[in-house]
Amino acid sequence: MSYLFILLAGYILGSIPSGLIIGKIFFHTDLRHYGSHNIGATNAWRVLGKKAGFWVFAFDFLKGAAGVLIGMYVGAAGSGQASAYALILGGIMAIIGHSCSLFLAFKGGKGVATGLGVITMLMPQAALCVFVLWFIIVLFTRYVSLASMIAAVSVPLQACYWDEPWQYIIFGILAAAFVIYRHRENIHRLMNGNESKINFSGR
Ligand code: G3P
Repeated sequence: MSYLFILLAGYILGSIPSGLIIGKIFFHTDLRHYGSHNIGATNAWRVLGKKAGFWVFAFDFLKGAAGVLIGMYVGAAGSGQASAYALILGGIMAIIGHSCSLFLAFKGGKGVATGLGVITMLMPQAALCVFVLWFIIVLFTRYVSLASMIAAVSVPLQACYWDEPWQYIIFGILAAAFVIYRHRENIHRLMNGNESKINFSGR
């Protein structure tokens, strides 16, 4: 019963389309019609400016972190301590909700910021290394999509390095595969040389 609750609560929470809401309320702009058409932080930054990008990142990150927290508290309610499965289930469902939102006809973002929120709660040292790697690649290439995919692939490797539970390593492999799958249009654009670079200056 508690696993069903974690599954549904994580999914509904993840489904809240932060980028779309922030874009529509504060900028009267539907991100799905501009830039990469994605509702994530990168497209918010690209289309609406830095502040919007920051806030969309923050909310999407928090959705992932909150998904794990739901698993932690609900999973602990019966047994005293939540299992790794309960935490992972809450996190996975937040990522799935973000990318296949209940409120957007099962469409949505690419799961990067939400995934970072999840791994920050599960394995903070690995998450910090993943974030630093992502940041360095963005700084040098200005391709956020490339940085996101490389960072995603590094998650299971970091989990191994930091000696995390095997369930987290499996989660990392699945999450990396999911993030790469969600970036398939970016991969085409990167190969064709027409992927847009992020602009650090500007608004
Ligand atoms: O987190 C999404 C990012 O990796 C790519 O976003 O808008 O360039 O497709 P975008």
